[in-house]
Amino acid sequence: MNTGQDQYILKVEGLAVSYGSFEAVKDVSFNVLQGEIFGLLGPNGAGKTSTLSSIEGLVKFKSGSIKLNDYDVQQQPLQAKASMGVQLQSTSFQAELNVAQILQLYSGIYGVPMDADQIKTTLREIGLDEAGKKKYSQLSGGQQQRLSLIIATIHNPKLVLLDEPTTGLDPQSRRQLWERIEAIKARGHAVLLTTHSMEEAEAVCDRIAIVDHGCVIAIDTPQALVDKHRDDPEVIAVSRRGKVTLEDVFIGLTGKAVRA
Ligand SMILES: Nc1ncnc2c1ncn2[C@@H]1O[C@H](COP(=O)(O)OP(=O)(O)OP(=O)(O)O)[C@@H](O)[C@H]1O
Ligand SMILES: [Mg+2]
Repeated sequence: MNTGQDQYILKVEGLAVSYGSFEAVKDVSFNVLQGEIFGLLGPNGAGKTSTLSSIEGLVKFKSGSIKLNDYDVQQQPLQAKASMGVQLQSTSFQAELNVAQILQLYSGIYGVPMDADQIKTTLREIGLDEAGKKKYSQLSGGQQQRLSLIIATIHNPKLVLLDEPTTGLDPQSRRQLWERIEAIKARGHAVLLTTHSMEEAEAVCDRIAIVDHGCVIAIDTPQALVDKHRDDPEVIAVSRRGKVTLEDVFIGLTGKAVRA
């Protein structure tokens, strides 16, 4: 483990990802510290999921390096994977299993098997005790999100990667998920999430990186980004009612055009 001030759990340096001749990620570098909630923000197609997929070992990246818990994700993929929990942008589980069985299966896979009582308690905590006998496909979108977050964190990983974890959640579920994310942080572990919600970034992220066209264009705390860019002409031009928000800074930096 690294020592001193630089207590990072994840170090991404000069990441580049191509799909055929298309360069989806051109130059992405950032560190996530222990006990930190780090947000990746960016317009549709900016390269956020491609960055997460590279960390998760789901995409082979062209250049750069990724170290998780001091393990190189390409050279020591098994050790790196054991240090992370992953919730994908869209997930599906074994169609023939019900919710309780899915939880039982994954707790076994992750080496923390649960008995029937523990499964019941866990499902109750996420408001799915009534849904234990349903198949994953029969759950609502928000219920699916809640179950997949539990499964991503079942083995208490050092880094949890969440791709748009609160998209489609109602306010209650979203708040509960924020509390779960903060509980991971309170255990000294780290969270890397993507979000399109500026409110979410401000509410839970310690630092954020804004990604655009495959490059990181800004990294800082949400408040510091607002303070730094509040007088930029592009930011003032999009601000409303004289108050500069993180969304104004985001649009000022990434432009007003909707992405193809
Ligand atoms: N498997 C793939 N093959 C070809 N192109 C891909 C593939 N996956 C992603 N892309 C392209 O790479 C770019 C980045 O996609 P990515 O999914 O990383 O964006 P994102 O920032 O996660 O966007 P969103 O906010 O919409 O989820 C997009 O232009 C996308 O069309
Ligand atoms: Mg994405």
